[in-house]
Amino acid sequence: MSYQEKDILEALSFVIEPDLKKDIVELNLVSNINIKDGIIYFDLQISNPAMHNKKRMVEACELHLKRVLGAEVKIDINFSPLQKAPEPKDNSKILPNVKNVIAIASGKGGVGKSTVTANLAVALAKKGYKVGLVDADIYGPSMPVMFNVEGERPQSIEIDGKTWMQPIESYGVKLLSIGFFAGTDQAVVWRGPMATRAVSQLFTEANWGELDYLLIDLPPGTGDIHLSLVQTVAVTGAVIVSTPQKVALIDALKAVGMFKLSQINVPVLGFIENMAYFTPAELPNNKYYIFGQDGLKKLAEAQNLPLLGQIPLVQSIRESGDVGRPVVLQENTPQALAFMAFADNVIEQVELRNKTLDPTKKVELTNMNGCS
Ligand SMILES: Nc1ncnc2c1ncn2[C@@H]1O[C@H](COP(=O)(O)OP(=O)(O)OP(=O)(O)O)[C@@H](O)[C@H]1O
Ligand SMILES: [Mg+2]
Repeated sequence: MSYQEKDILEALSFVIEPDLKKDIVELNLVSNINIKDGIIYFDLQISNPAMHNKKRMVEACELHLKRVLGAEVKIDINFSPLQKAPEPKDNSKILPNVKNVIAIASGKGGVGKSTVTANLAVALAKKGYKVGLVDADIYGPSMPVMFNVEGERPQSIEIDGKTWMQPIESYGVKLLSIGFFAGTDQAVVWRGPMATRAVSQLFTEANWGELDYLLIDLPPGTGDIHLSLVQTVAVTGAVIVSTPQKVALIDALKAVGMFKLSQINVPVLGFIENMAYFTPAELPNNKYYIFGQDGLKKLAEAQNLPLLGQIPLVQSIRESGDVGRPVVLQENTPQALAFMAFADNVIEQVELRNKTLDPTKKVELTNMNGCS
């Protein structure tokens, strides 16, 4: 037997407390670890001590211990009911000088979230706003390439005895991405709790300073990162990206559903249709609706949400992404104008939202009880 307490804690950090939605180590629910005669004993607080929950917890602990320790393990858990709701970390001081936090999401992957986010950020900066961008796509960070700052490393700075990450600045946008810290091969193995923690740090341990808009490029889908995000910062609103294709629309609707869930509860500001139509460079007035026409418009109407813009499918958008110079910088081209108009609509919807709704509250752990 060559493992130690820290190995056991590492393995148990993959076990999520089903009601509190965080791992049992981070929540401080594991104590008194003891290894005796090849059996791992520990105490574990559990929010719902029903028999089937305990059984599920035993199975989850066994699974991850076996996986991390690389050996069959015998465990003996002494369960006790949760003493009190764990104190949420004091997040009241997180991002005190950021006026609006906007999450950009899509259900389906590859529909252009990152392209849309990068261009929206630069469009807002061009309009004179102070803009930050968090690339929260832990599995495929693309902002370092899209902003031509690949290979750069954020500096650490000391403020009041604490060390902070200094965002990288490009085209007037402050930027942090997990891609600055891990090689592409490394990011892939950051799963579960480690991934969500890394993303949280981009908000909690960075010197964002004063911002009008902090945009967040989310990974595709509706997963852990999204949930942990709303527990870390108060998100003002979400923008949903979709192409007009049926499969993308179905997933866009799922993304809307996720933001509406009571345990997430982030207002959706509207949709943005990407690759709305194809326009060849040599025929700039022609529009070919290759993924279908008006699909997102109809969905937006049915959902009673605004369609914030339509971005054409043009070669220069892809090229400018690849060379790290967002296309919105190519002034007065139809594609730049489309992104500028989209930015105007986002600003309008954020202002409307701030006038008509209370500020979003960060989701506290205690609100999660009873949700699964
Ligand atoms: N309107 C467009 N016209 C041409 N190419 C586009 C357009 N939008 C996005 N692309 C290209 O499509 C590809 C996917 O776009 P992007 O990376 O922005 O999507 P994503 O939704 O962020 O993907 P993922 O789900 O992998 O994060 C990129 O190569 C990008 O340059
Ligand atoms: Mg992306």
